[in-house]
Amino acid sequence: MLELLPAPPVDPLWELTAAYGADDRPERLNLVLGVYRDEAGTTPVMRAVREAEIVLADRSASKEYRGLSGNTAFNRAMLRTVLGSGGGAAGGPAAVPGDGPAARATAIQTVAGTGALRLLADLVRHTRPGTTVWISDPAYVNHRPIMEAAGLRVRTYRWVGADGHHDAAGMLEDLRQAGRDEVVLLQGCCHNPTGVDPSARTWADLADLAGRNGWVPLVDLAYHGLGDGLEADLAPTRMLAERLPELLIAVSCSKNFGLYADRTGCAIVLSPSARALRHVDTALQNAARTLYSMPPEHGAAIVATILEDEALRASWQAELDTMRGRIRANRAALTLQLADLGRPALAAVLAGQKGMFSTLPLNEEQMLRLRGEFAIYGTTTGRINIAGIQAERIPCLARGIAAVSGA
Ligand SMILES: Cc1ncc(COP(=O)(O)O)c(C=O)c1O
Repeated sequence: MLELLPAPPVDPLWELTAAYGADDRPERLNLVLGVYRDEAGTTPVMRAVREAEIVLADRSASKEYRGLSGNTAFNRAMLRTVLGSGGGAAGGPAAVPGDGPAARATAIQTVAGTGALRLLADLVRHTRPGTTVWISDPAYVNHRPIMEAAGLRVRTYRWVGADGHHDAAGMLEDLRQAGRDEVVLLQGCCHNPTGVDPSARTWADLADLAGRNGWVPLVDLAYHGLGDGLEADLAPTRMLAERLPELLIAVSCSKNFGLYADRTGCAIVLSPSARALRHVDTALQNAARTLYSMPPEHGAAIVATILEDEALRASWQAELDTMRGRIRANRAALTLQLADLGRPALAAVLAGQKGMFSTLPLNEEQMLRLRGEFAIYGTTTGRINIAGIQAERIPCLARGIAAVSGA
């Protein structure tokens, strides 16, 4: 039977990582994968995570099955953290005090951000079979495959202009075609792959458009805390939650808690209707049951322990601030050096970007030269991980970029 399997497409990022592994040049630089690295080049376990793990080990809770919604303390803490107020109806839409957005929201623990995107896509398909999801062009590499795997149609909206800055007019013009009960996938901050985010004004315009035309935003939050700070990075999502009746949110704890391998995240859904929320809960649980049944407990227990303890939470936020500071310093140094090397236009594009990634305005041929001549690995579409580089290597990166960029 398996002889019949046609050659499936290979993930280009993993192919690049394999090519990097086979490269024996000592100066080689891997800026492909989206993981944070410190000055020592390692991806550290955050201090608050270590401390929470010690607390959990001492507690030695049973490993008995959890429910389909996962860790309910985690779900509640995530609702409060993401939406900023109120109690929330995590793990079942019970009556909740308060009238903030969290009071009309439900959350289910998922297998990281990817699992949240897939569960929400399944929810959309069950609610409106065959509806369209709009994603940015370019988008996070997995957005289209996840939405299509769930049986949804995908269309794209413009994201960056020829000048490398956010194309607000193009985006809004494209999204004027999004109709009632269609879904618009928006990255809440630190857009992957471009590092380009909408202005506050454009976010408000998007809320107006969604309110007028009846499409539902699906906000993908994977980098909050790594752009302008946790509260600032969550502000657009909270504004949408305040202003719109319905909202879908996929949250990843992979980057901002450094829990990449523990597969930790949640799907949040807002609706003014308690009945709809009850149905949403059951639909999400049913989707989880057929995909993986219950999510893994460890990462969610760590996050709940941190967010529920004032001192641990403060320690986590301080370390997140340090990570953000390092990313910003890297970008600023690269910008400065590109300007010094006579590449002011490139420097201006980079200076306007945020978060872990930058997309350089370089074509495939230039990116291949960067790899071949300078042993610098980014994607062929120009994405590099700004958080993956040590400060001492930035001059070499700037020289490589300046050399291949020509003008
Ligand atoms: C925009 C975006 N969304 C979601 C994810 C999925 O993250 P996770 O590892 O939590 O599944 C990523 C990971 O790189 C991402 O960049």
